[in-house]
Amino acid sequence: MTWMQDTAEQLKKGAFLMVKGNPMTIGWGQFGVLWSKPTFSVYVRQSRYTHSLLKDSDTFTVSVPFTGTMQKELASCGTKSGRDVNKIDALHASLVPARFGAQDGFAGCRYHIECRIVYRIDLDEQLLSDETLRNRYYAEGDTHTMLVGVITGVWEEAE
Ligand SMILES: Cc1cc2nc3c(=O)[nH]c(=O)nc-3n(C[C@H](O)[C@H](O)[C@H](O)COP(=O)(O)O)c2cc1C
Repeated sequence: MTWMQDTAEQLKKGAFLMVKGNPMTIGWGQFGVLWSKPTFSVYVRQSRYTHSLLKDSDTFTVSVPFTGTMQKELASCGTKSGRDVNKIDALHASLVPARFGAQDGFAGCRYHIECRIVYRIDLDEQLLSDETLRNRYYAEGDTHTMLVGVITGVWEEAE
């Protein structure tokens, strides 16, 4: 399997969106080719601390765990906020330095997808034509911002 297939599979369980040392669990992500470049897009609700960190950041990194690993870390980084706690310290985890100019990764993950942000847009829930989805995801507002990252490099850690 390729890193793209592995990542798409792992996103069902979660991966870490890394910005300024704060890991946030994500389940949404999108590979693509935009402006003739390989891209990875992430979707971050406006209430997340990560959303505020991204305002001051030109890059993000997505760290993808080995299959079946990091369940505790994914649960914690998907429920606790970097506003209240340093999640890396609380988990006795560590960062690995970026290799392609983006953000440091979550150490011990299989892949690190480094991205330079080239486009940001707040989703307009009124444009989501499926009412069931609109009610399920945006009853409280708090829409997602889509951030498109041009992939600057992908690298692997040994298991
Ligand atoms: C499996 C899983 C997937 C998630 N996917 C997303 C996502 O794609 N976008 C998002 O905004 N929040 C997502 N969340 C919620 C955030 O991870 C959660 O609100 C987190 O505590 C935010 O951390 P922060 O405040 O440090 O940014 C997900 C949570 C879990 C458990």
